[in-house]
Amino acid sequence: MNILAFNSSPRDHETSKTELVLQKFLEGARRAGAAAETLYLRNYKIKHCLGCFDCWIKTPGRCVQKDDMTDILFDRYLQADLVVLASPIYHATMNARLKLLVERTLPMMDPLKEVPEGVAPHRFEKMPKVVTLSVCGFWEQSMFDAMSLTWRMCLAGDLIAEVYRHSAEFLSVPEFQTLAQPIFDALAQAGEEVVRQGKVQPETMAALTQPLGPPEILARLAREFWSQGAGG
Ligand SMILES: Cc1cc2nc3c(=O)[nH]c(=O)nc-3n(C[C@H](O)[C@H](O)[C@H](O)COP(=O)(O)O)c2cc1C
Repeated sequence: MNILAFNSSPRDHETSKTELVLQKFLEGARRAGAAAETLYLRNYKIKHCLGCFDCWIKTPGRCVQKDDMTDILFDRYLQADLVVLASPIYHATMNARLKLLVERTLPMMDPLKEVPEGVAPHRFEKMPKVVTLSVCGFWEQSMFDAMSLTWRMCLAGDLIAEVYRHSAEFLSVPEFQTLAQPIFDALAQAGEEVVRQGKVQPETMAALTQPLGPPEILARLAREFWSQGAGG
């Protein structure tokens, strides 16, 4: 299996928790025999969708703009067997950089295609399956609800798993490493299961979403980090 991950965090490898969680997941996928590559959207120029629908009518399957989406990313997306769309939560959903990429996948859809309920109207024969992955700062799993609804509506049957980790800023704090280890193990397990079984088992999902501590303690620690000028 050929996996292509898109990471939309603006942060570098040392500070990005999306990167931390994504690479644990990919580690497990590789262990199951997949080849996995990550592209960092901060390194690419992606223009906004113009809303012209030319990609449906005048130039079916092709955007009229010219940028890294048309030159590189569009084809790379289509060539993958599995795409991982990875974003930090910003204001209760994916960040703008990932949304840009997603909106520019519009040429992959064919409005004339009649498909059963729950199936995306693909223009191209081969479309990758998708895993969505995200992290957030707060400790409620519900922080991912709005984004999850978006993904389920937009990706329909292409979406095979959603991997979301709350309290993510604590995952790199040295004092939390003992508590974080089972979460890292579960993330790798999730990657392995996606490759071997095409889904993540409920017990793996429970392990990777387990709390790192009582909310009131995490809230107090978070306030202490911020008051010390922490941000990475
Ligand atoms: C503009 C902005 C908005 C954010 N909004 C939320 C939010 O709504 N809920 C939340 O739990 N965390 C929020 N966060 C925190 C990030 O999700 C968290 O810091 C995450 O670890 C960032 O991922 P990254 O390290 O890969 O960039 C926000 C961060 C930024 C910069």
